[in-house]
Amino acid sequence: MHIKDRTFVVSGGASGLGLATAEELYANGGYVAILDMNPANGEKVIKQLGDRAKFFEVDVTESESLEAAVNGTVAWIKQTGKPMGGILPLAGVGLPAKLLDRDLNPVDMSRLNFVIDINLKGMLNTIRLLLPHMARNEPTTPDGERGVIVMVSSSAAFEGQVGQLSYAASKGAVRSMTLVLARDLAPNGIRAMSIAPSLFETAMSAALSEKVRQTLTKVTEFPKRLGNAKEFAGLARHCIENTYLNGECIRLDGGTRMPSKM
Ligand SMILES: NC(=O)c1ccc[n+]([C@@H]2O[C@H](COP(=O)([O-])OP(=O)(O)OC[C@H]3O[C@@H](n4cnc5c(N)ncnc54)[C@H](O)[C@@H]3O)[C@@H](O)[C@H]2O)c1
Repeated sequence: MHIKDRTFVVSGGASGLGLATAEELYANGGYVAILDMNPANGEKVIKQLGDRAKFFEVDVTESESLEAAVNGTVAWIKQTGKPMGGILPLAGVGLPAKLLDRDLNPVDMSRLNFVIDINLKGMLNTIRLLLPHMARNEPTTPDGERGVIVMVSSSAAFEGQVGQLSYAASKGAVRSMTLVLARDLAPNGIRAMSIAPSLFETAMSAALSEKVRQTLTKVTEFPKRLGNAKEFAGLARHCIENTYLNGECIRLDGGTRMPSKM
């Protein structure tokens, strides 16, 4: 899929991996619709990028809010005449929780739901609502490609750490969904990929203690550092541009294999 003169919808695009991806797509001539719940960051990003970017405030856990953002995006696409080339549902959160607390009480369901509702259900609903619009595109290549989905999984899909139950469940689901989406959408000329990063420098990882960061750096083979959001964005761009990539979850982790705990 060409990036220039296509519209890419990036949820979570106001920060971290989503922001770096929005910047990368914009720098390569793409139009970027940023769907995020943080209007202050979203508006700032739009100003930085320019008039090929548009911000839509959304909570991906709320269907009505998501429908409004999708309608807004589709109206913007009609206005610009730049068809939807890709869906990048990158909004996500982490919240540690074990099923049993120290007193052997079960964890409150709301703690588990918080992560699954955003990372999994929010992602599915984002794709679900945008997809009909991408599937109606005229094919863009001799292969008949109409669009691409690039999702974000995590190392936790492979080696979930202590306390990452709901996070690992949500990211493992993204990994598992990738091939199914590719298979389901093949008749529509739509590809599906996901990227599983280890720890990357973003707002999400900024809260981690120095000890945890050092341990993580130690278990990284090479290079000995956390990932850079630009490296994620570069791979997302490649997933979009390389038409033969489909149905796979690619690890982006410098050879890191997560230990049980830090
Ligand atoms: N940073 C890492 O180390 C890392 C590693 C693996 C996977 N990931 C995944 O990458 C994704 C992005 O993480 P990040 O590190 O860039 O985090 P981040 O906190 O920098 O950005 C996440 C963005 O998602 C938005 N968001 C959160 N909940 C939302 C909701 N309900 N509706 C709409 N927007 C919402 C936030 O406002 C924010 O702008 C997440 O899914 C995360 O799980 C991150």
